[in-house]
Amino acid sequence: MPPPTYVFRYGHRANRDHRISTHVGLVARAFGAFGMYYCGDRDEKLEEKIKDVVERWGGSFEVYYVKSWKSFVEKWRGKVVHLTMYGIPLPDVIDKIRRLKKPILVFVGGQKVPGEIYELADYNVSVTLQPHSEVAALAVFLDRLYKGKMLKKAHFENAKIRIIPQEKGKKIVVTK
Ligand SMILES: C[S@@+](CC[C@H](N)C(=O)[O-])C[C@H]1O[C@@H](n2cnc3c(N)ncnc32)[C@H](O)[C@@H]1O
Repeated sequence: MPPPTYVFRYGHRANRDHRISTHVGLVARAFGAFGMYYCGDRDEKLEEKIKDVVERWGGSFEVYYVKSWKSFVEKWRGKVVHLTMYGIPLPDVIDKIRRLKKPILVFVGGQKVPGEIYELADYNVSVTLQPHSEVAALAVFLDRLYKGKMLKKAHFENAKIRIIPQEKGKKIVVTK
């Protein structure tokens, strides 16, 4: 089992990034991360949205605002994986990352990331060598890290809602 994984979302802009940062958080949670840190604009609506999903769909995923990304990353007691199209291709490093014993911080940008992160990161990892999205890069990275395990996880602890998979239509179980 890989160590606990957290996501760091760099440079949130409340007016532009609300939807995509929410998706970073929801993907992080659904694909097995324990929490999301973010810096940039403090955005209570973003935090509320993710808390609301956790409240209904379960688990203990948390969102934390961080003022200074740099001192946070420098003090992180674990390993830092920066997702960037300029990094080492994911298949070439994922086995090494999976064997790490310390918590992993997966750093993703949105607006351009500061150059220092390439040095501060223990691993700069690419998910294809083409530009795309932090949401997609994160999903693929976490899926490979957890070897697809989250794709069939039906229920998080304390969930009020869960899905019963159907070939057609929708079926949910609601616990009061
Ligand atoms: C919309 S992208 C581009 C950011 C910005 N234009 C730049 O030059 O850094 C935002 C984030 O998605 C992630 N990303 C995009 N393409 C990627 C790729 N091929 N591999 C890994 N991460 C990627 C990176 O974390 C990046 O900081």
